[in-house]
Amino acid sequence: MTLLGDTATASGKKPTEGEILSIRGGRPLSGTVEVKGAKNLVTKAMVAALLGEEPSILRDVPDISDVAVVRSLLEVHGVRVAEGPEPGSLSLDPRDVESAHMEEIDAHAGASRIPILFCGPLLHRLGQAFIPDLGGCRIGDRPIDFHLDALRKFGAIVEKLPSGIRLSAPRGLHGANIHLPYPSVGATEQVLLTAVRAAGTTELRNAAIEPEIMDLIGVLQKMGAIISYEPNRVIVIEGVERLRGYDHRAIFDRNEAASWACAALATGGEIFVGGAKQQDMLTFLNVVRKVGGDFDIREDGILFRRGAGDMQGTTVETDVHPGFMTDWQQPLIVAMTQATGRSIVHETVYENRFGFTQALVQMGADITVYPNGLQEGPRRVPRRSLEQAAVIQGPTPLRGADITVPDLRGGYSHVIAALAAEGESVVRNIGIIRRGYAGFLDKLTALGADFDVIG
Ligand code: EPZ
Repeated sequence: MTLLGDTATASGKKPTEGEILSIRGGRPLSGTVEVKGAKNLVTKAMVAALLGEEPSILRDVPDISDVAVVRSLLEVHGVRVAEGPEPGSLSLDPRDVESAHMEEIDAHAGASRIPILFCGPLLHRLGQAFIPDLGGCRIGDRPIDFHLDALRKFGAIVEKLPSGIRLSAPRGLHGANIHLPYPSVGATEQVLLTAVRAAGTTELRNAAIEPEIMDLIGVLQKMGAIISYEPNRVIVIEGVERLRGYDHRAIFDRNEAASWACAALATGGEIFVGGAKQQDMLTFLNVVRKVGGDFDIREDGILFRRGAGDMQGTTVETDVHPGFMTDWQQPLIVAMTQATGRSIVHETVYENRFGFTQALVQMGADITVYPNGLQEGPRRVPRRSLEQAAVIQGPTPLRGADITVPDLRGGYSHVIAALAAEGESVVRNIGIIRRGYAGFLDKLTALGADFDVIG
């Protein structure tokens, strides 16, 4: 495993896996895949290491390009990152953190969304920070107003520049009372990573409580932070002067686990997802059961397959935890194209997360997207009109097509649609999938997929 430190560029491209696949579909995917640490925890835990005065060890780090981007950004700030002490782990030594040159930071512009989480840690370590323009999947506007409002409440001075954001805290950072307009995952992490070393107490209301956030709280507690989680999405952080390093095994990637589960349902195969745990996937498992899928929960993972009889259409609405995750809807929709009757997916977290369905329609799926949703009602994220709905009528045979991956989860869905489809597909822009799926092509091979890398 290289953890992409040597071979990837800051844009996350690794030349060995190719960008275009030719896929011959129409046969079930069956076998075993192992899921490792969650992308959406690992990258944040890496940033948390900046806050410590000693080295940290992070275990079960997936070999994905988002990790490479964060690693590289930590390194330009003087953090020494090395593989070990065991395969798939990283040691992160922040003792020589220093201001980076703007050009080095700028080389990471557009590569990921994680750099926004460097704000608090860099302000604590250096009194200033420069954050390049953000990247990440183009699935909506993805503003950072909650982040910047919170940072200002901690006492940061925020200056927007044409190429990014400059922050300073000449008088240090102090605890704050913050009420998020929406339980944003990133803004909750921003507050946690800033409050742990701010002077005084921070009370965060309407916080996100995703399992990955609870795992980040675990990391910070290991470092010496004092964080209590109270009922009704309230998190209280008592700031401390210094933090030490941590040794932590990352929570498994439930998004990847759900993706492989949907691949089993979509292709009619049987996939054992090693490392998946029931407790963090309860909502997903209920939907698998409702759609007519089946699963066996074992000590070391979960086996997914279709149940006896046809799969049935169902309705889901994406939501923050403990609701149905927005990242699960794309692979699920591919499975829904093979279910009998009508399925409806209401997307309430992002305003542009059904673009990937165009390719499925090109492949023969019957999907209608309602950009303004099917019903009027209060909007989840204030000031923004988010609700969209997709209505899927099934079952429809899928046929091979020439398609281009638009984003991480949509791209994964394109690949499993191509594997479920009769005939040959050409799937372009596969590189994006490496942002979040470790060893993607090896796993496809292990499951019996028939494909070639052609470009
Ligand atoms: C995280 O994104 C994940 N990314 C996403 O995973 C995931 O879909 C999302 O949480 C929801 O679970 C990472 O962890 C790196 P948010 P994040 O802040 O933190 C709006 C994947 O495929 N909002 O909870 O960026 C925002 O636009 C990815 O793995 C504001 O309006 O999500 C969105 O509509 C994609 N202003 C909603 O809140 C803000 O300042 C939720 O976003 C911040 C967010």
